[in-house]
Amino acid sequence: MNNILQITNLCKKYQSGFEALKDVNLNIAKGEIFALLGQNGAGKTTLISIICGIVTPSSGEVLVDGQDIVKHYRSARSLIGLVPQEISTDSFETVWNTVTFSRGLYGKPPNPEFIEKVLKDLSLWDKRQNKIMTLSGGMKRRLMIAKALSHEPKILFLDEPTAGVDVSLRRDMWDLVKVLKEMGTTIILTTHYIEEAEEMADRIGIIRRGELILVEEKSSLMTKLGKKELTLQLQHALPGIPSELEIPGLKLSTDGFELTYTFDSNGEQIGIAELLQKLALHHIVFKDLNTKQSSLEEIFVNLVNSGAHHGS
Ligand SMILES: Nc1ncnc2c1ncn2[C@@H]1O[C@H](COP(=O)(O)OP(=O)(O)OP(=O)(O)O)[C@@H](O)[C@H]1O
Ligand SMILES: [Mg+2]
Repeated sequence: MNNILQITNLCKKYQSGFEALKDVNLNIAKGEIFALLGQNGAGKTTLISIICGIVTPSSGEVLVDGQDIVKHYRSARSLIGLVPQEISTDSFETVWNTVTFSRGLYGKPPNPEFIEKVLKDLSLWDKRQNKIMTLSGGMKRRLMIAKALSHEPKILFLDEPTAGVDVSLRRDMWDLVKVLKEMGTTIILTTHYIEEAEEMADRIGIIRRGELILVEEKSSLMTKLGKKELTLQLQHALPGIPSELEIPGLKLSTDGFELTYTFDSNGEQIGIAELLQKLALHHIVFKDLNTKQSSLEEIFVNLVNSGAHHGS
């Protein structure tokens, strides 16, 4: 298979005894953008840190392009670029030197043309002779990405790439990730901004208390788990829903002018066409109709909360 990353039965118990990852299994295809969603403390950084060799797994296996991250640490690590969640960038060093040095750390021969391209792609070329401490926060984030890309990795990990970044910069970052994808880089990112996953990811994984509870194509996640809502603006107020029309999910507004019908995309309720026929039979006339599909945010909140009621 064309899996650039294979994670099998991965578990992590910290020395404190805390189980941060429980039997995680995940394959990532070459070139995909995978978003890992989860609340604070769910285990996102732990998972990334294990893959990047910063944290040792308790059991299980991680292969990066076929290389075991424990047994073949150096070769596996050289395929990975990491932009950590916590960035420390109070350096007197220049942008150019930092990125060039970072490439050298991986034993790659110098390649000024490549570094130039990376800095240009990240809109840092004008700042190449600036000391890092003189950069703005958003520029520092981009510098971290430039560093992570300096040794031409096949997989890029972005742990909360846009935490604390303003809305317009966040858009720039999304555009940048799309450029990187076009260049063939596989990207795994964690985020609290669900619209970020909605915007960028091909697939989404949801992690809850150390368990990967769901992995789905973004589009099928949204059709499978999303709810749809149909709203009908009525010509005349209805005193109530006629008893023959008492269908689960159908509600009338208090003023009687609006009917809303909420249904699962794959539920057992009746379809829209059938509902509209029934309305016509009862001479209920509407002047406007709208449909709405729930957002990834609503799906995510539902999933995470549904687990909260069931104990572990
Ligand atoms: N070195 C450590 N020793 C003990 N427990 C740890 C250690 N590092 C992390 N944990 C615990 O493991 C759990 C997962 O932490 P992790 O940093 O992976 O979460 P996260 O999903 O990245 O959260 P956030 O969204 O806040 O970044 C947390 O409960 C955390 O307290
Ligand atoms: Mg984290």
